[in-house]
Amino acid sequence: MNSDKPAKHIGILTSGGDCPGLNAAIRGIGKTATSEGMQVIGFLDGFRGLMENRSVRLDNSKLSGILTIGGTILGTSRDKPHRMLMGGKVVDMTDVIVENYHKNHLDALVCLGGGGTQKNAFRLSKAGLNIITLPKTIDNDVAGTDITFGFDTALGVAVDAIDRLHSTAHSHHRIIIVEIMGHRAGWLALGAGVSGGADVILIPEIPYNNEKLAQSILQRVSKGKRFSIVAVAEGALSEEAYKKIGKAKDDLRNAENDEKLAAKMKLKEMEAKCTGKIMQIADDLQRITGLESRVTILGHLQRGGTPSAADRLLATRLGTACIQYIKDEKFGIMVAAYGDSTKAVPLKDVVGKVKMVPTDHPWIISARNVGTSFGD
Ligand code: F6P
Repeated sequence: MNSDKPAKHIGILTSGGDCPGLNAAIRGIGKTATSEGMQVIGFLDGFRGLMENRSVRLDNSKLSGILTIGGTILGTSRDKPHRMLMGGKVVDMTDVIVENYHKNHLDALVCLGGGGTQKNAFRLSKAGLNIITLPKTIDNDVAGTDITFGFDTALGVAVDAIDRLHSTAHSHHRIIIVEIMGHRAGWLALGAGVSGGADVILIPEIPYNNEKLAQSILQRVSKGKRFSIVAVAEGALSEEAYKKIGKAKDDLRNAENDEKLAAKMKLKEMEAKCTGKIMQIADDLQRITGLESRVTILGHLQRGGTPSAADRLLATRLGTACIQYIKDEKFGIMVAAYGDSTKAVPLKDVVGKVKMVPTDHPWIISARNVGTSFGD
């Protein structure tokens, strides 16, 4: 520590859906910063807390004992600085946020979040703030990083669920359809499906055909296998739905400036309408195969609880590395996981992208090799 220089002031916030590993990251950032003589505060409830200037001092007493705790000690929200709900109205609160950043004499603000948070953080960086982000989400869909923390823990929960569903499906000779989170990407369902030995995996990247999906179960029946596990990503799409979404995306791309908002809303509506079809999948499979079907939605169970060892390690690695980037005054970047190391990825290269599963990804190839169907 250079005693000639005034201590740096660091702010931290967590934004978007919570996930296991956030506290490990906060601890990693906070402990490294304080050991370097920096002052650290945490804003409560994401960007809303920063806008309302609600914060806590993150000293060692606050940072101790949080490594293994799920969720975030800071609280989170899905509020966006430029579109905040204020007394029933949506208001751009960026100026207030900039003002609060300066009021707290911050030298840097670390935003922990997924794709949406990266976008919001980039906006604040363009508004002149020194921003660094960390990639977190159970969905593993943030561009520019090998992996996000939260993913490994959620994967473990989903695999455990599939293991448990196997014994009951087997005993009752049933098809069990299990819905797995992941937003618009299939990482979680794919990873859990492969690790749990699901017989069918449906992910948004590979549109499924209803006939072929039923055929894959009937083929199992013909081999004397009277039960099946179908792992369905919450964003999975049938071939028809995939086409409709593709058209809505094209319309958005081609929309003139004043048509963009309407086109965006239309795409969102379409996505909501076309996804979450597990009840229908269950009914169709029961009708076609004659096997009883049941549905399990894992939901927020996948986001809760203590982080896995891999997530603790990753979050600690990214959190501690973050301080070196602050010392080097590298701002407007995301601290990405890069092999065993980290990499500073400019936020402009992260935002507006979703890391989808490549259809030739090794996990998909391995799944196909062991006979897993993707309904295609
Ligand atoms: O991004 C994490 C995630 O859990 C997604 O998998 C899911 O689609 C979404 O958040 C659920 O959000 P909420 O908790 O706001 O319902």
